[in-house]
Amino acid sequence: MSARSTTPTLSELIATRLSRREVIGGLLAGTALAAIPGAAFADRSHDPSTLKFAQPPHTIGQDQAVSPGHAAQILVRWGDPIQPGLEPFDPRTFNAAEQEKRFGYNNDFLAFLPLPVGSQTSNHGLLCANFEYTNPELMFPGLGIKTKLETMTREQVDTEIAAHGHGIVEIRREGDIWHVVEASPFNRRLSALSTPIAVSGPAAGHPRLRTAADPEGRTVIGTLNNCSGGVTPWGTVLIAEENFDTYFGGDPKKTSEAGNYARIGLKGKSRYAWSRFHDRFNVDKEPNEPNRFGWVIEVDPYDPTFTPVKRTALGRFKHEAATVVVTPDRKVVVYTGDDEAFEYLYRFVAARKFDPAHRQANFGLLDDGTLSVARFDDEGGLVWLPMVWGQGPLIPANGFHSQADVVIEARRAADLLGATPMDRPEDVETSPLTGKVYMVLTNNTKRPPEKVNRANPRSDNRHGHILELIPPGAGKPGTAHHDADRFRWSVLLLAGTEQDGARYHPKNQQYGQWLSCPDNITFDNKGRLWIATDQGSAQANHDIPDGLYACDLEGEGRALVKFFYAVPKDAEMCGPCFTPDGTTLFVAVQHPGEDSTFDAPSTRWPDFRDDMPPRPSVVAIRRHDGRPIG
Ligand code: FEO
Ligand code: CA
Ligand code: CA
Ligand code: CA
Repeated sequence: MSARSTTPTLSELIATRLSRREVIGGLLAGTALAAIPGAAFADRSHDPSTLKFAQPPHTIGQDQAVSPGHAAQILVRWGDPIQPGLEPFDPRTFNAAEQEKRFGYNNDFLAFLPLPVGSQTSNHGLLCANFEYTNPELMFPGLGIKTKLETMTREQVDTEIAAHGHGIVEIRREGDIWHVVEASPFNRRLSALSTPIAVSGPAAGHPRLRTAADPEGRTVIGTLNNCSGGVTPWGTVLIAEENFDTYFGGDPKKTSEAGNYARIGLKGKSRYAWSRFHDRFNVDKEPNEPNRFGWVIEVDPYDPTFTPVKRTALGRFKHEAATVVVTPDRKVVVYTGDDEAFEYLYRFVAARKFDPAHRQANFGLLDDGTLSVARFDDEGGLVWLPMVWGQGPLIPANGFHSQADVVIEARRAADLLGATPMDRPEDVETSPLTGKVYMVLTNNTKRPPEKVNRANPRSDNRHGHILELIPPGAGKPGTAHHDADRFRWSVLLLAGTEQDGARYHPKNQQYGQWLSCPDNITFDNKGRLWIATDQGSAQANHDIPDGLYACDLEGEGRALVKFFYAVPKDAEMCGPCFTPDGTTLFVAVQHPGEDSTFDAPSTRWPDFRDDMPPRPSVVAIRRHDGRPIG
């Protein structure tokens, strides 16, 4: 039976899947610790969590807040120079040429790649950062939220385009302080204004990717809406294009791609003014351009001359991330979710095996393999459905004439295969200790009661949940068969409060904290899960900050969630990433002050200067005693 057609109620789910003890815990869980005076001083002798750090106040503020005993240093901000000899950042004279030499806007995914390549160095390396999108009304003086699209200048638009993409910055720690090496030969900006990106895999050169500027369909200028990403075992970085539909104007219904664009949600109502100045962002003039975005891109940060590559074998949709793991027999597997309500979880298994002895031999691995999509059943099983042209419904009668059509219209192919529509798939990451896979579903307020299933158990799911996917052989490092046809799965936690039917550890109320809208996740060296949150505009209703939380995954403290770090007002938490020794945790603070303007911002974090707007920034967190965090 398809998971889609079953409609158990939440009480049925609880009755069938949870023990009585878990039910009681789940019902009690979620009351805010902050609401219980003195709870921070509760008897810790019975706290089953292995995470013993003190929690900061669970309240929204204009400044960041970190767990007592830690320092949170601003490492690099939007506009900071990443080349030598530049003037200090001045937002009033800023322009596109300057932006291409400086740190971009709205940092999201972060990776730390040690220097030299292949080492486990923890005080020197390359910081790789995605620059997802822009808030022009916070970047430039004089713009109104409602009027900006009509009033922005060409120079402002080009600065915005240049602020998108990716950045690679050499960083070094001296004592407890990290700094950017401005004169590093590694420092590089990938800009949506100027950086050529190659296209490889099944869709490379396909007529549906050809444009006036690129009649071969093999080179795209720039990458857009890079949300999260991943690091390959050969030391390259994958960056994921997410909400690329928001950049295009014109009328998609009048193009030959009308059905494709409707399925991806491209309506031609752009959030940006770009189509006023650049024909390629107007589908009336360049109808194929949107087919050149929505991909996963591979970047080699160790080679500043490397041409980044759009790896089309991984499919085209709104990729949240792309995380890589190797099976016991060295097969390379990529997990990648499609972040929209009722979209799917995908997996790519490369045809060739990872070669640890020859770094360059792995660079084409992601061009050839099998893309699949997940179907969750109500008995706790997961089946991977191969998306192979010519098989099942993926045939010319349904408009699929090659594997290029399958990857370009991956959502429609997955619909036909019967994949399970999920509650907005955000990050998917694999525990390095157990090989279990954690899948974050951030929220989905559009799910009606008749469409709940066990993998998406709440209608009007405002707070999201996290699933645990268990491949055969999981339990120890390196033993999980991520390429298997079938997995098992269970619920790790349901976020929110008691009133929302949340489910955490039974002692969450006493020792932990509640969270809402999990987004990006990572693991520390002890295999514990660190969870970044993004409530978006719902933050004011929930009245808790976004930030970083952590919980055990195994043992007595499983799903007991502790609060570690709060972002400033109207920001979201992105990019949690540890150095190899676990002593520094890098986090990305994205869109501080969102929904306010340069002239009247809701916070001026991190500079708190009257002449400076809020600035998205990367923060380096360390313990005062320098020991591993957590
Ligand atoms: Fe860019 Fe799904 O967050
Ligand atoms: Ca974001
Ligand atoms: Ca995200
Ligand atoms: Ca999000």
